[in-house]
Amino acid sequence: MVNRKGWSYTLAIANPKGGVGKTTTTINLGAALAEKQHRVLLIDFDPQGHLTAGCGLKGLYLRSDFPLADLVLRGDTDQIKAFITPVENFWVMPAHMSLIRLEDELVVQRAGETRLKKVLEALNADFEFCLIDSPPAVNILADSVLLAAGRVLVPVQAEDTSIRGIEALEAEIQELKDVLDANIEIVAIVPNMVTSNSVSERVLGDLRGNQLGQTGRLLTEYQIRKRIDLAKAWHEGKSIFNYNPRCDAIESYRKLADFVCQVSSS
Ligand SMILES: Nc1ncnc2c1ncn2[C@@H]1O[C@H](COP(=O)(O)OP(=O)(O)OP(=O)(O)O)[C@@H](O)[C@H]1O
Ligand SMILES: [Mg+2]
Repeated sequence: MVNRKGWSYTLAIANPKGGVGKTTTTINLGAALAEKQHRVLLIDFDPQGHLTAGCGLKGLYLRSDFPLADLVLRGDTDQIKAFITPVENFWVMPAHMSLIRLEDELVVQRAGETRLKKVLEALNADFEFCLIDSPPAVNILADSVLLAAGRVLVPVQAEDTSIRGIEALEAEIQELKDVLDANIEIVAIVPNMVTSNSVSERVLGDLRGNQLGQTGRLLTEYQIRKRIDLAKAWHEGKSIFNYNPRCDAIESYRKLADFVCQVSSS
């Protein structure tokens, strides 16, 4: 089935470093794209299931009759489709606790890292934007996400160690290109949890100076500031658009959504 606009744009939200804002970015960028009347699917491929919980779907993560790991291994897209759930004005393919064992099972499969890509090819035609929340790792699950999307948005926290995560991601992408001839590009690097303090400003300066523009555009103009309501919204299982429509972070996500719309059509 072809979606109503006839195209689909899949984007991984990835950074091997933990806690930088991958899940928060996925949910709220997704909500911003949905606000622009796009059909949006958020895919939680992190065994932690934080996106699933942050969309109020923790029950699905725990359900015994949703063996997502087995469904991905079998390529059972019909069953997976049955668990795609409408949330607010977008859709979510939830994670399931069985993903915890999927890493071990994929590594012994032939071309295990391409299983998710195959599954998504059967799902994404129904949606204009598919955003995949990646686990904080350099492993076969994270590789699966990179290969399935082919395009990556990298949230970075404005702190001193942030450059390490980007370097690890760049090295992994290069290896996937070299070994599997994969086509993967970093579309954007988005500073998150930015504050007005001197550390934030210095780190953003360092990131600029590190020539990150070679692999992806550093979007300091769309940076997301540190806002406690973003953490509270996650706890409530809501996007910030739904939790606090007056939060100023919404404007940043809208601008980021404009950028994604622009690159998706170029
Ligand atoms: N801009 C922000 N302002 C305030 N809190 C934020 C912001 N972005 C994320 N957080 C909070 O920081 C924590 C980590 O964010 P998040 O879970 O999105 O990161 P992550 O990269 O997905 O983590 P993991 O690597 O574990 O998957 C969460 O408690 C989240 O609510
Ligand atoms: Mg996360």
